Amino acid sequence: MQSLLNKKIVLGISGGIAAYKTPELARLLIQEGASVQVVMTEAAQQFVTSVTMQALTGNPVFTSQWDNSISNNMAHIELSRSADIILIAPTSADLMAKLSLGLADDLLSTLCLARDCPLLIAPAMNKQMWEHAATQRSADRLHHDGVTLLGPASGFQACGEVGMGRMLEPAEISEQVIAFFQKKSLVGKKVLITAGPTFEAIDPVRGITNHSSGKMGFAIARAALEAGAQVRLIAGPCDLPTPLEATGKIIRTNVVSAKEMHAATLAATDCDVFFAVAAVADWGIAKPAKEKIKRQGDGAPNMEFVANPDILLDVAKTVKTKSGKPSPYCVGFAAESTDLEKHADEKLKRKGIPMIVGNIGPDTFGSDFNQLLVMDASGSKKIAKAEKLHLARQLIQLVAKKI
Ligand code: CTP
Repeated sequence: MQSLLNKKIVLGISGGIAAYKTPELARLLIQEGASVQVVMTEAAQQFVTSVTMQALTGNPVFTSQWDNSISNNMAHIELSRSADIILIAPTSADLMAKLSLGLADDLLSTLCLARDCPLLIAPAMNKQMWEHAATQRSADRLHHDGVTLLGPASGFQACGEVGMGRMLEPAEISEQVIAFFQKKSLVGKKVLITAGPTFEAIDPVRGITNHSSGKMGFAIARAALEAGAQVRLIAGPCDLPTPLEATGKIIRTNVVSAKEMHAATLAATDCDVFFAVAAVADWGIAKPAKEKIKRQGDGAPNMEFVANPDILLDVAKTVKTKSGKPSPYCVGFAAESTDLEKHADEKLKRKGIPMIVGNIGPDTFGSDFNQLLVMDASGSKKIAKAEKLHLARQLIQLVAKKI
């Protein structure tokens, strides 16, 4: 499912070395279903050619306000009227200053002044230029004027220096553009999520874990961020990148064992919603060996298990008594091999939670797809098979209505 289907994006490019990444950005936006119309400043053409951008977008590129290919010769009006957003990547310090003052001396700046759609900019410049009081003033003014700033990030710069001012990566910009278009149903809300498997050590080299990939939990984290929430993600061992990290609205804590996950989660219960998506080991090894257990002839070692705490149960019940505050709206997950509805209903009652989500089908672990059965006091509802991110967005909207 493409996340930018039918969206029309005017992609502005100003003069900066980061422009070498803009063709990739255009490709990602198009891959998500957007139609992209490129507008380049004169300086931008020193870094990337209009031929490249035309070939990638399939649309002629506009570079001049004196372009007579538009019938009324008013490219600055025509282009902005048909756009859902104007996105400028990279946005130079010079262009930021111009936009913040309302100057309009070329097609891109005139287009921004004449626009009736949102403007998103991805600044890119040397760290000294970014830190300069004048650029900070421009950033504040633009923010005040309702312009969305994507980044910049900190890191290695083309000039050889290290610091703030680097343009976000094309994938990060594309994800933030996608997020921009999602329904903002969780603004001002805090969402806590456990995700992935846990790992219970047997000795320093072995352990017990499960097939959870973390994809569903991470998709829920991304969907919650897209909806405007602050997110706390407690992740078991998995390789997934932190979703929408560049927004600064997500804090990720990596844990290994169920006990660590329990401690990290219980320390973060000051939230409005808790999604317990992790596949938590029900038992750990009572005394993990300090040294690697050696082969014992044909025999096998005996191992004693101890029950792990139930994180979801504890979040659902203890918060209320500890702080006097209402506990967060708790959403549990159930992956069953048989009788999903029966087991999910039993868990809903046993854990004292308002909603449980069952994974329908045995093939959900590791897959990008899933189908869900959502159960709460009002009954049960199926969410048809789709990509996990798409399911996560639907789930977030359901939960947002509940709180
Ligand atoms: N869960 C949890 N802590 C645990 C075990 C489970 O927070 N120690 C949460 C899971 O994240 C999930 C829900 O409880 O949201 C159900 O997990 P599941 O493993 O299916 O249920 P259990 O209670 O462990 O029961 P069983 O293993 O018998 O199915």
